[in-house]
Amino acid sequence: MKSLPYFCRGEVIRGFGRGSKELGIPTANFPDSVVDNLPADISTGIYYGWASLSNGDVYKMVMSIGWNPYYKNTKKSMETHVIHTFKEDFYGEILSVVMVGYIRPERSYDSLGKMLISVRPYDVIEAKVSWTTQSTPQKKLFKEDNFFTPVAPSLPSAPSARPTTLNSITDIT
Ligand SMILES: Cc1cc2nc3c(=O)[nH]c(=O)nc-3n(C[C@H](O)[C@H](O)[C@H](O)COP(=O)(O)O)c2cc1C
Repeated sequence: MKSLPYFCRGEVIRGFGRGSKELGIPTANFPDSVVDNLPADISTGIYYGWASLSNGDVYKMVMSIGWNPYYKNTKKSMETHVIHTFKEDFYGEILSVVMVGYIRPERSYDSLGKMLISVRPYDVIEAKVSWTTQSTPQKKLFKEDNFFTPVAPSLPSAPSARPTTLNSITDIT
């Protein structure tokens, strides 16, 4: 896929809420504006990469893109499972991700039980394993990409309004 690595960012919105309850892996959904912007060559399926919430720490992630054939969704979604235990939900926060590799296509399953066996252990482990088997040092470096660097608050434009400690502020930008 020539569009990989693919960087995107958006507010975390509510999905159907099945990720945590039924699958045991919480997923963060992107709004339509992010989903509809996906390049044509990013096919549906399961991807791995890096993710960060509101410019915090950067963690490994596994993402599902598509129509969730088991649930027969009518709208395409992008759902990210950040491989980290968070204490609270993060609806409304800004999620930044870079997708670096493809794991598998989406599948339909005969039962929720079969999907659980596949999705929960397999994909999360596969995402972790992909980092050792498929990853190039370059893919690992995306964790350090400027895309994940917190944006410093912009300085007021009128010079007279600038703080006297301008140099120290400039240093951290
Ligand atoms: C790593 C991962 C793999 C997934 N694989 C599939 C799949 O193969 N088939 C499918 O129907 N849904 C798959 N899903 C999507 C789940 O069905 C979906 O995350 C779940 O329904 C929660 O959606 P919700 O947050 O909108 O409730 C996968 C999700 C994740 C995070």
